[in-house]
Amino acid sequence: MIPQSFIDDLLNRLSVVDVVGRAVTLKKAGANYQSCCPFHEEKTPSFTVSPSKQFYHCFGCGAHGNIIDFTMAWRNLSFVQAIEELAHSAGLSVPKNELKRAERQPDILTPLLEEASNFYRNSLKGSKRAIEYLKARGVTGQTAARFGLGYAPPGWQALAKVLKNYEEQGPIDSGLVVLNDSGRRYDRFRDRIMFPIKGHRGRIVGFGGRVLDAGEPKYLNSPETRLFEKGRELYGLVQAQRAIHSKNRVLVVEGYMDVVMLHQHGIDYAVATLGTATTSTHAKALIRLADEVIFSFDGDAAGRRAAWRALGHCLQVIEDGKRVKFLFLPDGEDPDSFVRDHGAEAFEKLIETAQSLSRFMLDHLASESELNTEEGRAKFVKQAGAMLQQVTAPVYQLLLRKSVADMAGLSLEELDGIYKANISLPTSITTNNLKVARSVRSAPSLSRHLVRLILMQPSLAMDLQADEFSGAGTELLRALIEMIKLNGEMTEGELEQQFARSEFENTISRILSEIRELNGKIEVKQEFMDAIKKWHLQQRKRRIGELLKTELTPAQKLELLGLLPH
Ligand code: UTP
Ligand code: MN
Repeated sequence: MIPQSFIDDLLNRLSVVDVVGRAVTLKKAGANYQSCCPFHEEKTPSFTVSPSKQFYHCFGCGAHGNIIDFTMAWRNLSFVQAIEELAHSAGLSVPKNELKRAERQPDILTPLLEEASNFYRNSLKGSKRAIEYLKARGVTGQTAARFGLGYAPPGWQALAKVLKNYEEQGPIDSGLVVLNDSGRRYDRFRDRIMFPIKGHRGRIVGFGGRVLDAGEPKYLNSPETRLFEKGRELYGLVQAQRAIHSKNRVLVVEGYMDVVMLHQHGIDYAVATLGTATTSTHAKALIRLADEVIFSFDGDAAGRRAAWRALGHCLQVIEDGKRVKFLFLPDGEDPDSFVRDHGAEAFEKLIETAQSLSRFMLDHLASESELNTEEGRAKFVKQAGAMLQQVTAPVYQLLLRKSVADMAGLSLEELDGIYKANISLPTSITTNNLKVARSVRSAPSLSRHLVRLILMQPSLAMDLQADEFSGAGTELLRALIEMIKLNGEMTEGELEQQFARSEFENTISRILSEIRELNGKIEVKQEFMDAIKKWHLQQRKRRIGELLKTELTPAQKLELLGLLPH
């Protein structure tokens, strides 16, 4: 329903090389450009962009299309949203009324949330107390309007007058209404300043509500609903999107008021995580939004811990050419108070002092080891290695390795030698693309290989414990070990019989035919020992990955040190 002429105009104005080039690093290859495909994992580039055809194509996964297809797929946008985004970058605006009709049919919860929001906004106009509160915090009317701020009046069922279907399931599903144990319904938000939270489609998905005076909790948020997933949404993204795009920078803060006041002061590329720690979903989305991502945290210990956790999520998603930074605010300040007291210019100056991800990471690791001793440097090298392992961006990883080598007083060759020789950090460091997730994914095939070997030589199972193996795809392996340990020596035929008519019947007979092919061609015992070793390695790597994602308790820290290579 957007006029074809407009779409054609857009396609003419924008080059596929520029649009795709914003997302991935393209290398010229003859008349075309190439890179590794952003839509599937690969080591050698099979993603080609043709300027003459204004088209991209991946020979690996088949992804292909024009700039609209690319924008939809890469940014996870609808057709209309992709057009809007591209139009914006070309300095065009999409004919407005055309846009409305083309929008998708919204979820039935959406109108409920919109009605409630309208009601809250109107209630704000009628509440002197709420207006005074916002005024006292320096929020202008314009800002309140921009963010759709409102006020939920006191009273248990104020929304009953507003929502026609107050007694039905919808208001409960939307999180606006709470059903108590005795079957009574009441409004979740009462006597609170209301911050509507918009999802990436621009529609309200939930609310945050702040008390006006000292009360608990300070902020009450919508529960997670089918529209609202806290670890996914970023508060203020709808308002910030344009600025993020044009300034190619996004600032991530912690609070609703931080976003609102930063925008009011012209720092309009700010968004907030919703009272939750930064998730890997956030990190992935943020990296895609702009080339520069700045996380702002309180300067205190809690802020540093939160930053460290965010860093862990960024390692896996950072791309070459992207800059991730960490800004620590002076003691006792948050972005809201800082920008009010010192102004936007001072805040932007502060941003210039933000530490790069690498600086923050390496300084933090260095502070935990004594780099003036051999032991300290060895510990530093180990810990850095575990983190470097997660970085998949090749150039960035190389630069990090160089820094680690420098700080440890080693040459890069020496460092790489250590990492390569180290069995817990196999090829990953040099091949640059091992993700922690991959070791999890390969577990089923490894456990299948173990099943194969045990079927070839059942006595091998005697030294194993079934509960050493867990996770998807290990059920048969566990059953097999248990069976053999229970019955003592068994032949292949006996095992086949035992498993006949079990859920594993088909798998077993498939594996037995694989075995007939293998027979005589492999050293069963040696293969088995290697496979077991590999299994433990995978478990260890997965556990390291898990531990690195969380703030460590002292016990976990010990565990991590134990898991790292000695
Ligand atoms: P803060 O406690 O730092 O508050 O919470 P703030 O943002 O500075 O709020 P003001 O300035 O006192 O109004 C930061 C964020 O954590 C979430 C909210 O998203 C808040 O903006 N939060 C905080 C909650 O969800 N619930 C709470 O009770 C407190
Ligand atoms: Mn605050």
